Amino acid sequence: YSARYYIDIVKQNGFPAGEDELPLYGHFRDDMMWSTATASFQIEGGWRADGKGLSIWDTFSHTPGKVKNGDTGDVACDSYHRTDEDVRMLQALGVKYYRFSISWSRVLPDGTTAHVNEPGLKYYENLIDKLLQAGIEPQVTLYHWDLPQGLENMGGWQNVIMVEYFTQYADLMFSRLGPKVKRWITFNEPYIVANLGYGYGNFAPDPGVIPYVVAHHLIKSHAEAWHLYNDKYRAAQGGQISITLNADWAEPRNPYKQEDIDQFFLGWFAHPIYIGDYSEIMKTTIRERSLAAGLPKSLPEFTPEEVQRINGTHDYFGLNHYTTKLIFPIDYGLQQNYDADGVGAVDDWSWLDSGSSWLKVTPFGIRRLLNHIKNTYGNPQILITENGVSEKGPVDLNDVVRQHYYNSYINEVLKGADVRGYTAWSLMDNFEWAEGYSERFGLYFVNRSDPKLTRTPKVSVQTFSTIIRCNGFVD
Ligand code: NOJ
Repeated sequence: YSARYYIDIVKQNGFPAGEDELPLYGHFRDDMMWSTATASFQIEGGWRADGKGLSIWDTFSHTPGKVKNGDTGDVACDSYHRTDEDVRMLQALGVKYYRFSISWSRVLPDGTTAHVNEPGLKYYENLIDKLLQAGIEPQVTLYHWDLPQGLENMGGWQNVIMVEYFTQYADLMFSRLGPKVKRWITFNEPYIVANLGYGYGNFAPDPGVIPYVVAHHLIKSHAEAWHLYNDKYRAAQGGQISITLNADWAEPRNPYKQEDIDQFFLGWFAHPIYIGDYSEIMKTTIRERSLAAGLPKSLPEFTPEEVQRINGTHDYFGLNHYTTKLIFPIDYGLQQNYDADGVGAVDDWSWLDSGSSWLKVTPFGIRRLLNHIKNTYGNPQILITENGVSEKGPVDLNDVVRQHYYNSYINEVLKGADVRGYTAWSLMDNFEWAEGYSERFGLYFVNRSDPKLTRTPKVSVQTFSTIIRCNGFVD
């Protein structure tokens, strides 16, 4: 009855109907991987527990003025001490997969393999065991933004030596956790690391530099970790490894080429990994802009050997997607060749708001983006590694916008492309980076005024678990 429920929510709340008749009835593949996700810094807490080292987000969130309301990740959802509860929530949801990330500085306090923090590793070993006992497969992200501070002190991702350190860290994780982990993600959203972490600077570590060098090193690090897995572990462990890229759908506001826009967002990373090298338009545009600004050419180059080594380092296409932007070409410094204008668009398009300024509910966008990936990057198997919506302000467990979001987005996913998995962000309300705890993406509400940080299901838990149980939309 997932389909009827979808229609009811739309009607009862007067939500704008999709472009097509609602909904499309049908099932996903039998082996569809239903999952939900979190990330270490956003949920674990235990920021100094059992020998954990500091990460750039510890430093950043303790710097006054960086995070809303002075929120930190010191306690977060206290998941470091609440493995059993987290696993129970996953079971209630009915997911057979759970995506979480490793805190690099929890297992390697200064970032290097000089010292392995066994208690930190034990936390993940225990979590993995409990998941497997519950019939849930772990999907592990190696890097979800919390770089060990010790490595940032050497320049972090601006320093090419990170390729080496990341590969050593990955090696340790493959050897220690690999026997039980079959699904790996090297990096979560390198676009954000480069642009928001190092570029515009409202995320850690915030040096405010041109992001291309950072991105270049992230791409190389990803490729080296992929090769390491491929050469040394794949035969024995038989898992899969890829990268998770994020992209909004870009709906051109005036005649403008979609392909060009994509090259500066998704294509920045996807082109080297799925096609080979940076795209020509990216190279030319950045060169022209740098010259116009009197700066040295700022997009680094891959050697022909590097182009080859990076191309093809994927086992699937990991995608995080949330929203659509109406775009138009403007000169946006050296970083992008478009700017977003979601605000003026709301009236024209009847886009629903969420608790995050950048996120409007635009279900059609996911279908268009999936088709775009299919046509541009060789019809890869796509794993949606994040999709979800936030609310803010007073708590209302009847989260109608989220119920509608999951119904409508997942229904659009049914309409095309080779999608093998869908992951809801997030299992529970958590530390939403620079917004602290003010924006809540959880299927479960986390009561932060209760010292036990009790988790309560929002109504969207039913929405999502119904879709999972039906494996699609049925009457
Ligand atoms: C993507 C990021 O991977 C995740 O950490 C974040 O919380 C969500 N987007 C929502 O902004």
